[in-house]
Amino acid sequence: MQQVNLGIIGGGTVGGGVFQAIQRNGELMASRLGIWPNVVKMAVRDVHKKRAVKIPKTLLTADWSSVISHPEVNLVVELMGGTTTAREATLQALKLGKPVVTANKALLSAHGEELFAAAQKSGANLYYEASVAGGIPIIKVLREGLIGNRITRLYGIVNGTCNYVLTRMKLGGADLPQVLADAQRLGYAEAEPSLDIDGYDAMHKIGILASLAHGFWVNPKEIYVEGIRGVTALDIQFAGQLGYTIKLLGIVKRNDVLPNGRTCPPIQVSVYPTLIPNTHVLASVNHVFNAVYVRGDIVGDTLYYGRGAGQDATASAVLSDLADAALDLKHKTRSRIPPFVPHERQGAVLAMAHVISRYYVRLSVVDRPGTLARIAAILAKARIGISSVIQPEGHEGESVPLILMIHDASNEAMQKALEKIARLPVVKERPVMLRVENFD
Ligand code: NAP
Ligand code: HSE
Repeated sequence: MQQVNLGIIGGGTVGGGVFQAIQRNGELMASRLGIWPNVVKMAVRDVHKKRAVKIPKTLLTADWSSVISHPEVNLVVELMGGTTTAREATLQALKLGKPVVTANKALLSAHGEELFAAAQKSGANLYYEASVAGGIPIIKVLREGLIGNRITRLYGIVNGTCNYVLTRMKLGGADLPQVLADAQRLGYAEAEPSLDIDGYDAMHKIGILASLAHGFWVNPKEIYVEGIRGVTALDIQFAGQLGYTIKLLGIVKRNDVLPNGRTCPPIQVSVYPTLIPNTHVLASVNHVFNAVYVRGDIVGDTLYYGRGAGQDATASAVLSDLADAALDLKHKTRSRIPPFVPHERQGAVLAMAHVISRYYVRLSVVDRPGTLARIAAILAKARIGISSVIQPEGHEGESVPLILMIHDASNEAMQKALEKIARLPVVKERPVMLRVENFD
């Protein structure tokens, strides 16, 4: 039986999970692959720390670089997180010709192009199934399963922490700090949880999926991001009454309009809290579960669902990469399909100002005749259509909520109109605007 010798950098939630999963299913993998996965060394920051997963002290070191250069290690698994030391470690391994498996979406988002180029140059490969949507093998789906399709739509609930928080908020009685603390305890959140809550983790992931789907490396700076900090229990409740559920949704949409002189339409790549009709399957994706809905021009609509964060789900994705890498090492090949194949030279991201959407707007207004007329006049002047107006009953006081559902309009037109509406004396608080997706 051949052996693949692993040097793992990081023994936290994911690193501990991978170690545990190898103990549990290493033999099964060996019988399927003909290669035994063997952990040679593991780097952690503090070798004396008490760990939930027992790791023999003899395996541990605080010197990550020595793990990579260890003469017996022929496959490096980067599970430390962050973008600085992790970049250094990944480049060091690739330069030594050692393939790298990573779960680090922040690293790929910030330095993907450089790392893929380094992998190409060194002949060693870079595997990243665990970087997006936890245990769902979505990278394989895009790279292999749907390779014969143009991807026209991709919608993803790709942050387990945010989905867990929004689900708990919808169930009622929990506030953000309390639910976030639970998500951290369960091992879902990033070391810096604002990456989750403010939408950046979903941005990293949706950027990776958009790049794979459209063949050019999407610059994260061009991805429009809004997190869930501004989503209130009141909006979740009103959305529910209107037949919608609020989800943090990553959207990758191929625009139908081809600008002059271009062979490739610009792509919408964005992350924001979105009202999803309760009848749509994504509205039923709850707690830590993720789902990615992909429409290909040949296959049609497809859906991928599973746990999006946490120790075991992520470990499962890392094991899948370990298997691919081990087989490549055994057969002295590179993976059948390189980690990322740039092929769309004209690829570009559509500026958010030009993205067309429907909207939910919640205003806090003085309840007196003429209020609605003033708001409607501003929208009419901007040629923005209202599809319905609801003034929920049971609210009294100086100001009351007024909900507007708005027909398709550009984000630019909508923002300008809302700025004017916010300045009306009858409007008492900053308007809340959320986008509505109808998955057409
Ligand atoms: P974590 O629990 O914070 O673990 C990080 C590990 O890296 C710890 O063991 C830490 O050592 C070690 N480490 C950090 N800096 C180090 C250094 N300079 N030298 C040596 N060791 C160092 O994080 P995690 O949740 O496992 O996440 C790891 C990676 O997986 C991140 O890129 C994350 O985005 C990604 N990921 C996480 C999940 C999830 O559900 N948690 C899912 C998918 C992907 P100590 O233990 O001594 O502190
Ligand atoms: N913090 C991430 C999440 C981990 O909650 O989705 C999985 O990538």
